[in-house]
Amino acid sequence: MLILAIETSCDDTCAAVLDGGHVLANTISSQAAAHADFGGVVPEVASRHHLELAAPVVTAALAEASVSLDQVEAVAVTAGPGLIGALLVGVSTAKAIAAPRQLPLIPVDHLQGHVAANFLEPEPLEPPFLCLVASGGHTLLAGVRDQAGYELLGQTLDDAAGEAFDKVARLLGLGYPGGPALEKLAREGDPEAFPMPVAMSRDPGLDFSFSGLKTALVYLCRDLGEDAVAERRADLAASFQAAAVGQLVAKLERALKRGDWKAVALGGGVAANGPLREAVSELCERRGVRLKLVPLALCTDNAAMIASAARFAKPIPYPNYLAYDAFPTKQPADGPEASK
Ligand code: KG4
Ligand code: ZN
Repeated sequence: MLILAIETSCDDTCAAVLDGGHVLANTISSQAAAHADFGGVVPEVASRHHLELAAPVVTAALAEASVSLDQVEAVAVTAGPGLIGALLVGVSTAKAIAAPRQLPLIPVDHLQGHVAANFLEPEPLEPPFLCLVASGGHTLLAGVRDQAGYELLGQTLDDAAGEAFDKVARLLGLGYPGGPALEKLAREGDPEAFPMPVAMSRDPGLDFSFSGLKTALVYLCRDLGEDAVAERRADLAASFQAAAVGQLVAKLERALKRGDWKAVALGGGVAANGPLREAVSELCERRGVRLKLVPLALCTDNAAMIASAARFAKPIPYPNYLAYDAFPTKQPADGPEASK
C-alpha cells in the first residue's frame, strides 16, 4: 500500500511516502533556527511554521517519491502526543488531503512511530525486542512483542533525557538544540571531574528521572561561580553526559536481565549521542543481544516512522474521521492503539 504520512508534533514539519516498508521519500523541514533565540520550542511559533510549511513539505515528499496524489492509497498522521497547535496542523492537513479523495485516514501515536522506525527496510527488525526511546519530549522503555503496539516497561517521571541535555546545554551557554553541542563540548572534558547523583538507584523499577541531575548541575554551577564554570565547561558537560547516559544504560540493562530479549533498538533524538551508542553497543555485546541502530534521520522526528507505524494500525474509513481530533498528552480510549 502506498501511504502518505505527515508528522508535526513538535518543531519539525515532516512528510513521507512509503511503499510497503520501503521509504520513497522522507522530507523534514526543521524549525530549529526559528526557536534557537528562545532556547527551546515555542508552541505558537511551531504552529505557525507548520501552517506555512505543511503543504510545501507534502508537495516536496510526493515529488521526491515521484508519486502523484492519485496514487496515494491512505494518509497517515501523528495524532498525538505533542504540542496541540502543532498536531492540529498535521491532522487537518491529512484530513484535507484524504477526505476529497475518500481515502482512509490512519492516526498514529508518535511514540509508536519511534518504535516503528525499526520496521522499515532494509533489514526490518522483527519483534520481540526492547526499544529505548529518548527524545526531547519523551524517555521510555518499550517491550515490543508485535508490530502493532508495545508494553510500557518504564518512563521518565519528570524531564525527558533530551530535555535535560537541552537545559544543561543552556546553563553552559550552548545554543539550542543543546544535545549535539553538549556532546561536542564533552569530548574535551573529564566525565569523572564532578560526581553526579545517580538517579533512581534505589528504585527497583524501570522508570527514569532526569530533573535531579539537572538541578544538581544548577547548584554546582552556582557554587562554582561564573569564572570557574567558564573554565570547566567541558568537565561539567562530560560529567553530566556520563551520568545521563549511565542512567539510560543501567535501566536498559535491568530490563534486559528481566526479560528474554534477543534484540535492542534505540529511537529518539538522544539516540544520536555517541557515548550512548557506544555504551549500548558494549552492553549488547556483553549480553549477546543484537543491537539495531536505524539511521539518524529515522531516529529523530520524521514522517517515515509514522507511515511505518500506520502499516500496522487500524485505518479509519472515509467519512468517519472528519471529526477526529488530535490528542496532546495521552491517547483517548477510542484513539489509535499505542500500547497494549
Ligand atoms: O526525537 P527528537 O528529534 O525530537 C523530539 O521528539 O523531542 O529529539 C530531539 C532531542 C533534543 O532534546 C536534542 O537535544 C536531543 O534530542 N539530541 C541529543 C543529541 N542529538 C539530539 N542529545 C544528546 N546527544 C546528541 N548527540
Ligand atoms: Zn519524537
